[in-house]
Amino acid sequence: MMPRGRSGLSTVAPAKVNLTLAVVGRRDDGYHALESVFARIGLYDELTVERLAPWESPDLDRDELTVDGPCAYQPTRDDLVLRAAAALRRQGSPGLPRLRFTLTKRIPAAAGLGGGSSDAAAALLLAALAWDLEVDQTGLLALAERVGSDVPFFASALRVALVRGRGESLASLGSPAAPLGLVTVTPADRLSTEDVFAALAMRRERPVSDARAVTARLADLIATGADPAAIVALAPLLRDANDLWPAALRVLPGLAGLRFDLEQTLARPFLMSGSGPTLFAIYASIAEAAAAVAILRGSPMASLEGAVIHGAELPAAR
Ligand code: C5P
Repeated sequence: MMPRGRSGLSTVAPAKVNLTLAVVGRRDDGYHALESVFARIGLYDELTVERLAPWESPDLDRDELTVDGPCAYQPTRDDLVLRAAAALRRQGSPGLPRLRFTLTKRIPAAAGLGGGSSDAAAALLLAALAWDLEVDQTGLLALAERVGSDVPFFASALRVALVRGRGESLASLGSPAAPLGLVTVTPADRLSTEDVFAALAMRRERPVSDARAVTARLADLIATGADPAAIVALAPLLRDANDLWPAALRVLPGLAGLRFDLEQTLARPFLMSGSGPTLFAIYASIAEAAAAVAILRGSPMASLEGAVIHGAELPAAR
């Protein structure tokens, strides 16, 4: 998992999907209180860290990050990986060596798949190892929460969790009895989480949905060892159990057409993950999901132009 080689320490950072997302209130700190079922999926970034000698760091004030891979982007100083390292640095003694991170990006960014948050959680772990800092689980989760709402889920060892509050309250749901297959479709236009929550806040009315009840029902089902078919059977309810859907549509109206096209083509409900825009369908096996990916990749649909399509596993307990 964390080999120490010539190029430093490295680890993988998985994506997540939200199987449900209920907005249950507004908190005093301005954030929204959520109830959501998060699940790690088999789509990964890879993060490597090296300690820099003082003469290797052209800018002595900061750690470094380079990003490569199919979903590479130009990182800024504000990147979650660098923010995570900075948060941990503040807990250590002065004079900790500068770090150079290399991120191989396969999870589409700003997509609702939690890639940036997962990279940040991986950066916390790797920086702690690179600096030989002992951080217990409670300390790690507190740091994670400071970096971003979804970071505690990734910093925890949980595979499927009921996530509450801003994202800091985590309850393990275990894993499904057998792996599920997912098809994820991320359109070319991306969404900022902040913009989607802002669009939700502009509408004063409380979301009228069953998302909270569906979240509780799904949580019960998974916690009692549901088989994939039982989870797939719930997909029509899960589809309408993301309270951020109307807000995401206000920011990116084209998402409705994409969902319509996907559902027509595959005759499956498509759920939205997090604040979007990634849409995904759930299958009872990885083979079925792979067949669906092949259909979409061969499709001339205009709404799929520039979209990133993946088949991914939602793993069972080992
Ligand atoms: O915590 P994070 O930086 O990921 O959140 C991005 C933005 O999304 C926040 O600035 C906030 O506007 C919004 N947000 C929210 N309620 C949450 C999570 C995020 O309002 N539970």
